[in-house]
Amino acid sequence: MTDDSGTPAGPNAPTLLSPVERSKLDSGDDARFYASSRFVHHVDEPFRTKLTELYRRELDPDDTVLDLMSSWVSHLPADAEYDRVVGHGLNCDELAENPRLDEFFVRNLNETPSLPVEPASVDAVLLAVSVQYLQYPGPVFAEIRRVLRPGGVCVVSFSNRMFARKAIRAWRTASMDGRAALVRRYVERVGGFDDRRVVSAVEAGTDPFYAVVARRTTA
Ligand SMILES: C[S@@+](CC[C@H](N)C(=O)[O-])C[C@H]1O[C@@H](n2cnc3c(N)ncnc32)[C@H](O)[C@@H]1O
Repeated sequence: MTDDSGTPAGPNAPTLLSPVERSKLDSGDDARFYASSRFVHHVDEPFRTKLTELYRRELDPDDTVLDLMSSWVSHLPADAEYDRVVGHGLNCDELAENPRLDEFFVRNLNETPSLPVEPASVDAVLLAVSVQYLQYPGPVFAEIRRVLRPGGVCVVSFSNRMFARKAIRAWRTASMDGRAALVRRYVERVGGFDDRRVVSAVEAGTDPFYAVVARRTTA
């Protein structure tokens, strides 16, 4: 049994989000909300370009990549080859159209916050513009830690756009810097990550770009 921090539950187990913080305006089944395909971009082109460049800097060509909460687009550099790219999301038709994915799985992480992935088998975990929908980030980030190889990278990107009714209250009510602090807290509380940093670029007239980048500790 684990609590939402990803550590064994017990009287001293830390809690990442309170029930109020993880509440959503729409508490209906996420799978139903995402059942209809949306072949749209969720952030603008400048944001997507910055994310692709960040991936180019942080990932190596022969990496095994896990793209969590993905869709028909992965934002990986078009000219970069990776060893294998595994996708995950809630909409099978969107994932099937994603040209970067070698394989994918569908799983509601708010119901089953675990990953069907071997321990220490992945070099990079990507989570683009979706972290605001996670109600139980503790177990999910503990799973990210579990599947990453030592030295592997986790890149969690986000902006100010969201399906507000499906975003957790802690996200909806926070500033952009507050959101960055929240994601940093997820990574720090789960532990096992070094070199945690926030990358941001805010330019008038474009979607603000934020990413938390963390490396799995090599020790
Ligand atoms: C705004 S889209 C972002 C998709 C993609 N990462 C991108 O950059 O375009 C949010 C994604 O989060 C996924 N998602 C939302 N709630 C989820 C949940 N409870 N479990 C698993 N995935 C979820 C959906 O599949 C959806 O594709």
